[in-house]
Amino acid sequence: MTSDAQVFVRGDGRRLSVLPGFRERVLGGRRSVTPRDGWSDDEYGASADRKLARFARLRAEFEGRTGPLEDARVLEMGCGDGINCLLLAHAGAGFVQGVDLAPALLEDSDRGERARRLADVVLTRAGFGGDHEAALAQLPVDVRKMDVTALDLPDASFDLAWSRSVLEHVMPVGRALAEGLRVVRPGGLLHHRIDPFYGIRGCHKRGVVDIPWAHARLDLEDFRRFVAETEGEDSATQRHTRLRTLNQLCTQAWHAVVVAGEVELLDWTPVRSEQADEVLAELPGLTDDLLDGLSEDDLVYSELKVWLRRTPDSP
Ligand SMILES: C[S@@+](CC[C@H](N)C(=O)[O-])C[C@H]1O[C@@H](n2cnc3c(N)ncnc32)[C@H](O)[C@@H]1O
Repeated sequence: MTSDAQVFVRGDGRRLSVLPGFRERVLGGRRSVTPRDGWSDDEYGASADRKLARFARLRAEFEGRTGPLEDARVLEMGCGDGINCLLLAHAGAGFVQGVDLAPALLEDSDRGERARRLADVVLTRAGFGGDHEAALAQLPVDVRKMDVTALDLPDASFDLAWSRSVLEHVMPVGRALAEGLRVVRPGGLLHHRIDPFYGIRGCHKRGVVDIPWAHARLDLEDFRRFVAETEGEDSATQRHTRLRTLNQLCTQAWHAVVVAGEVELLDWTPVRSEQADEVLAELPGLTDDLLDGLSEDDLVYSELKVWLRRTPDSP
């Protein structure tokens, strides 16, 4: 940084304003749905209610596309805590397979304990008369550790494969998309919800700093240097590593990658972020120094929602 603490000079000499408090503004006030150490019963209850409300919206969206869930075979790619899988099976899906590199529900750890406790609260509130163990034993659902880029699942064995907040983490993402396509039957559906990197929070917590959209305006080396100067080397290493684990694709590149292969695009809905629009209106010059290949369009979306159909076999 220069002697003026409010400006950071990029490697190419461009001067970017630093806005103290910007990170807090973007990330503050967000309630986590993922249980934290020491959470009270009330906090578990509030998280369960949010999970159930989200699930109700998801189910309505699924049924709008697939019709009633009965008999549908559903794969969740990157199922995280697995709670949506339990709820889908409870809601009547024919069979639900959840896969994740680190499925919290099965993990022998404090994180696993917290995920199981939350699953039990969710199941109670959903009216299932048992806990997560009973759900796994009695409902048509299976959750297991598996890499979505190499699914150990038969071809054409699902009616629907879906993911949320997963594809931005998976490399190579084309491999995961191809695997999803392989295991869905011809004519079956794929649904992906992607948090695009260049959205205001798309770089995830570690990428948000006090330079607005630093992740769209600094290359990784400049980003690392800014964090080292403001927070020290350890933080710089952590944040820089985190950014490198995310797919840094602009909106157009995501579109190209999801429509590759034998698919018909049914719906492509980029969801606009009100917060992004608000900040851009306050800082109109911000888009003057975006990294090559980016435009304002890449900054304003908080989610890309995609529905695809696997091309039916020719008669
Ligand atoms: C941000 S979490 C989202 C979890 C869940 N879909 C949700 O919406 O709550 C991303 C998940 O993707 C999983 N993941 C990342 N790469 C993966 C891979 N190659 N194969 C399977 N799961 C993966 C992570 O373990 C993590 O649980």
